[in-house]
Order: sequence, then C-alpha cells, then structure tokens
Amino acid sequence: MSIQFDPKNSVFNLHTKDSSYQMQLDPLGHLLHLYYGRKLGDGSNFHLFPAADHGFSPDYYATQNERGVCSPDVLPQEYPAANRGDFRVTAARVNNAQGACGAEFFYKTHTIQDGPYTLEGLPAAFGPDCQTLCILMQDSVLGLEVRLLYSVYEELGIITRAAVLCNLSDAALTLDQAASACLDLPFGEWDLIQFHGRHAMERQFERTRLGSDIRRVGSLRGASSHHHNPFVILCEPEATEDWGSCYGVMPVYSGNHCTDIEVDYNGSTRLVTGIHPDNFRWHLAPGEQFTTPQVLLCYTHEGLGDLSHRYHRFIRSALCRSTASQSSRVLINNWEATYFNFDQDKIYDIAQKAASLGVELMVLDDGWFGKRDSDTTGLGDWYVNTDKLKGGLAPLIDRIHGLGMQFGIWIEPEMVSIDSDLYRAHPDWALTLPGRDPIMGRSQLVLDMSREDVVDYLTDCFTRLLSENQIEYIKWDMNRNMADVYSHALPPERQGEVSHRYILGVYKLIDRLTSRFPQVLFEGCAGGGGRFDAGMLAYMPQIWCSDNTDAIERLSIQYGTSFGYPISAVGSHVSACPNHQTGRTVPLGTRGVVAMAGTFGYELDLNKLTRKEISQVRMQIARYKSYSELIRTGDYYRLNDPAQTRFWHGWEFVAADGSQALMNLVVVHTQGNPRPLHFQWKGLDPKATYKILRVDLQGQLLASVTDPAARRMVGLKYTGAQLMYAGLTMPQLYGDYPSAQILIRKMR
Ligand code: DGJ
Repeated sequence: MSIQFDPKNSVFNLHTKDSSYQMQLDPLGHLLHLYYGRKLGDGSNFHLFPAADHGFSPDYYATQNERGVCSPDVLPQEYPAANRGDFRVTAARVNNAQGACGAEFFYKTHTIQDGPYTLEGLPAAFGPDCQTLCILMQDSVLGLEVRLLYSVYEELGIITRAAVLCNLSDAALTLDQAASACLDLPFGEWDLIQFHGRHAMERQFERTRLGSDIRRVGSLRGASSHHHNPFVILCEPEATEDWGSCYGVMPVYSGNHCTDIEVDYNGSTRLVTGIHPDNFRWHLAPGEQFTTPQVLLCYTHEGLGDLSHRYHRFIRSALCRSTASQSSRVLINNWEATYFNFDQDKIYDIAQKAASLGVELMVLDDGWFGKRDSDTTGLGDWYVNTDKLKGGLAPLIDRIHGLGMQFGIWIEPEMVSIDSDLYRAHPDWALTLPGRDPIMGRSQLVLDMSREDVVDYLTDCFTRLLSENQIEYIKWDMNRNMADVYSHALPPERQGEVSHRYILGVYKLIDRLTSRFPQVLFEGCAGGGGRFDAGMLAYMPQIWCSDNTDAIERLSIQYGTSFGYPISAVGSHVSACPNHQTGRTVPLGTRGVVAMAGTFGYELDLNKLTRKEISQVRMQIARYKSYSELIRTGDYYRLNDPAQTRFWHGWEFVAADGSQALMNLVVVHTQGNPRPLHFQWKGLDPKATYKILRVDLQGQLLASVTDPAARRMVGLKYTGAQLMYAGLTMPQLYGDYPSAQILIRKMR
C-alpha cells in the first residue's frame, strides 16, 4: 500500500519505492506538511517539530487556546490560504460576497482508492499503477470545500497533486488565486534550477542559490511560453548529475502559470505552483467547482540525471496518451525549404527525393489554405488554396502516398488573420478590448477559445479535414502570445477567467480531435517551443523544440529541455546551411547527430544537396533507424553543460534493458594542437564487458592520427567499470564542429 493513514497520530504516509511524503492533522484539524524526501521506514512518524512564534505573526492556536503560542506563519502547510496569519506566498485567495478575503480549511474526511484521479477538462496522468488519496477540507464560514488530490506512483517515483474547490454556499465566492499545490521544505538550503529563454532560444538552464526573498517563475503570455518554462527543480547546493537531493515540480498546464518560491524568516522554503494569480479572478457561483491543473512532484537523492530519468519514464508511460507515436518515422518538412512559396509539384519533388533516401513522412507546413502567401492573411480559412494546390489536397496526398510515404499537415487552429473570411464573418470571435485597436502579433489575432461556438466551429473544420483526407500527422502551431484578453461572450465578473477558459477550450479541441483520430500523430508547436509543457504532452507525444535549427544553438536548447522532458518528445530536424537563423555552417554529419537527440527529420530541399551529401543523408537515416528504439526509450545521460564547456559537449543513451549504449560527442570549439577528448560513460553495469560496435566520426581526424584510429576502436572490449571510471579517449577531431557517435554492446 503506497498510501497509509495512521489514525492514532493523524498522519498520512505516502510512499514511492524510494521517497516518502508525510502530512499530519493538527489538533484543530489543519493539514500540516511534515516531510517529503528520501524514504522513511514503516511506522516512522515524524512528529511536529516545535514551532515557535518569532514575533509579530498572529496566532490562531493561542486564540483558540489549543496549543501554546504558535502561528500559522511558522507551520508547514499543505494548502495555505491568504489573510489568516500566514504571510508567506499562498495557495488560495478567496473572497466572499461581502468582499472579505480569507479562508481556513479544516479536515472533514478522506478516501484512499486504487488508480488515478481525473480532472474535469484538464489533462492528468493515467495508469493503473498508482493509488489516490483524496482529503476533503472545508471552510464552513465560506461554505467552501477543497478536495486535495494525491496520486502516488510507487514504481515510477512520482506523486501527482491537484485541488478542486467547490462552493457549497448560496452566495458567489471569488477566487483570486487557486494554486495546484504548496510544498513546504522546513529545513535545508536549496538551489533553484529554471529554464528561461526567448523565441528561438528556449529552455536555457539557469541554476541559482535561493536567498531570503521570493523568486517567481511564471508566464502571463497565455501560453507556458518560450520565456519561462513551468518546470522547476530545487536541489541541494552540492547536487550534481549523479548525486544529491532534488525535487522536481512540473505543472501539467499550458497557459499562464506561476511558481513562487519563498525563503522565510525561519529559513524554511515554501514553493507554491499553479495558475498565475495575476489577471486571474474566478467567479464561483453557488454549486460550482473550480479544478486546478495537476502538478507532477518528484524527489530523488540520486541527482539531476536520475530526476530526469523519472520524468522521462513517467511522461512516456503515464501521461502521454497517444499511441500514434509508438514507432518512429523519419519526416521531412517543407517550411525552411520553401516557406510560403510552393505548389504541388515543388512539394512532390521534395517528397520524392526524400522517399528515395528512406524518409517516411512528408509534412506540408504553413501556406496550404485560404489566401495564405505570407503570414499576414488567411488564418482561420481552413479550406485548400487551390492556386497553390490545384485540385485540392487529395491529388497531392495521393501522390505522396504513391511514394510509399505518409502525409502530414500544418494547422494553427487558435488564430485568425484580420484579412480572412472567418474574421470578416465573426470579428467578435477574436480576443480584443472594446473600443481599442487590437494589438497585433505576427499580423494575427488570437481566437477566443473560451467560447463554446469557436471550439465547435474549429472541431468541425478539422474533423472535416481529417475525415475527408488521409492524413497521418498534424503539426499544431500557435504563433503569438495573448494581449487584449477580453471575451465578447462573457459578463464583466467573468473576464478574469478568460485566460484559463482559453486553455480549457484548447484542451477540449485537442481532446476531441485526438480521440476521434487516434491513429494520427499530433505534434505540438508554438513558434517552435513556446508551449513545450506536460499539458501539451498529455495529448501530443512530441513538440517542435525550437524554431532555431542551428545544431550548435540546439545543444543548449535540447540540454535544457532534457531535464524534464523525454527525448522522444523533442522535435529536431536537420536543416540547410548556412543556417537560416544564425548564418552558421555546421557539417551535415554533426547536424544529423544533434537532430538524433530528438524525433529526427529534415527541413530542407534534399534536391539541393551534392551527391556526397546525399549519400551521407542516406547513411544518416539508416543509422537513425537502427538507433531509434534506443533513443526513444533509453535513459538519457548528460555528460556536461554546453554553456560551461569550452571544448566539447556530450550525451549518452543507455538502452532500457542495459544491452547497449550510444555516446554522442560534439566539438564546439576546435583548438590548435588540441588536448585529447577524454570522456567517461555513465549508467553501465560496472561488472559487465562491453564491445565497441560502431564509431561514426563526422569531421576529419588530425593528420597525425589520421589513419584508422577510429576503426581501431571498433571491436575493442572494456568493462563497464573501465568505461565509466577510467573513460575513453577519442582520436583528436579537426575542422568545424566535428562530432562522433560510438555504439557499445554488452557482452553476454
Ligand atoms: C512557426 C513554426 O515553429 C515553424 O516551424 C513553422 O511551422 C512556422 N511557424 C509556419 O508559420
């Protein structure tokens, strides 16, 4: 049993295979947080530490004469609310009909059941291998009930949390904040790891020590954003990839999110995560309930690498519902090859060449619909542009299928161009402020996805597209952030709900389409990786990682992404050089190695490559296919941080069954008279013997070691201990951004 209640001490114990989470009801019935961390033995109740008032904090215990002097301000709590004497960042901010802000929740009852919980309108983890605890808390003055939900995935090492707030009174309540979870860490010093960025430079790793203040990681852009990914980590200052206590906090949400981390005057750390409280105000009418997004919590004492492995496995096996992703398909996308300038023959030519080299899927990107010859027009008009595609989509799809390829198509459902039939017919379907000119972004407006009629209209459009055509893949884009957040369909007291209702509308649309067309593989995208989050991954198993396709820039983007999200989810393509975003030239071989740390595909016109390059592409594709299972399902190890290294960056895949491992090394700074490239493997069985099966070098070897140095490595045998502790040394590589892939296999 992973969840136990000890009635004598009023303690809840939640255990995964190597972590424990404990809560206790205090004598008044508040739910206090006791512990989250390395596994405690059975029956080890952790008694409330003596919390003392440090002055100036109000004290409801003293008021009620229950327990000496002790303020809520110094107690660790599971779901604190504002304005009742706890001055730290809070989980709930509730106002009654008189405008009085304040809530205090008392235990009523609880249930424990097998299996996960579901959340109305929101994505949530599934899977039978868990138990769920529901603790019912109540504020009888407000008539507000809160259900605190916890699912414990014992084997996978993840605890999910969410809260449901229900108004049982006969007057409306207003929620100014309703977080998913609060996590109090009463002791310890912590580093915060977050993944910030911008368009075309997403999820840059940043690690800083927490100080005596409040840190906030959040987005008010209507999307989880390129700028601050919702996933954060707290780890002990000494923690490394391989050692140390780490806590992961991953909201399953794609909209405005916020994680506040406060170190208080007692030195305790509180983390609150959920929907961003700014621009949020939820009118909770009598009988209505509000459901918060889920958050995935993970603790490990084995370092950042282990934390990543747990999230990767969890997302693949208990969050991502799609079965369409279970086999890899090498794709080609025409965006960087043609932009808006294509016709049927041009697309066919690209596909034909690609098919001859082993590419399995042709994805037709932006520009195939409405009057769409640039990004200024046509969004919303989801009918085929027959000037470009004579006779419609069917002839092109037939020709692509005739090549033995699958066909995929780009859509951007949530947007509308002012110059479109849709906007002319329904100007009130866009988010705009009454009486003001709309703020444009990429020349487009955001559709009001909080409206039922908009979601229904889009459901019909894309149901038609997918039922009338044999389409195997959808790329779902979203190319601007929100401004003018106002719905023409909601009353004034509900305008603070628009951003969250928007995301609920997006989830409803995706849910309808992915359930109606389960065989279609959906890829998420938002101007690259502007909505790369666990909410999207629940429906779409992969997301275009960044509009930056430069292989060297991708190293740090993919590095940051890998902390929380599995490699099978990382959309990554080989594109043309000089690269369209940076102007840099990177050898084709190295571009391939970097794209293989993801879903692998091409985004260029292969007809423009030289014969030598074409044969390289053919080999690259064959190589990816032979590695794809290992890449998609294996454990991913980071060897170093690309932002810190002055020489080379490396990463490794180890097969789930331990039978083989693939090392990837990219030289980011070629030096004169270079030092040897020495690296240590990770995740191997120290006692087993491994044989080097393949060495693929992309780039030249230094003249002095030219001869078959690389080939000499093939066939050599080492123990796992040698490879991990003593390491290997590569022959020195020379030229612009050379790289290597080394495959080893465990001997029986
Ligand atoms: C942004 C995406 O990230 C690109 O890959 C491409 O699909 C364009 N949008 C098309 O407008």
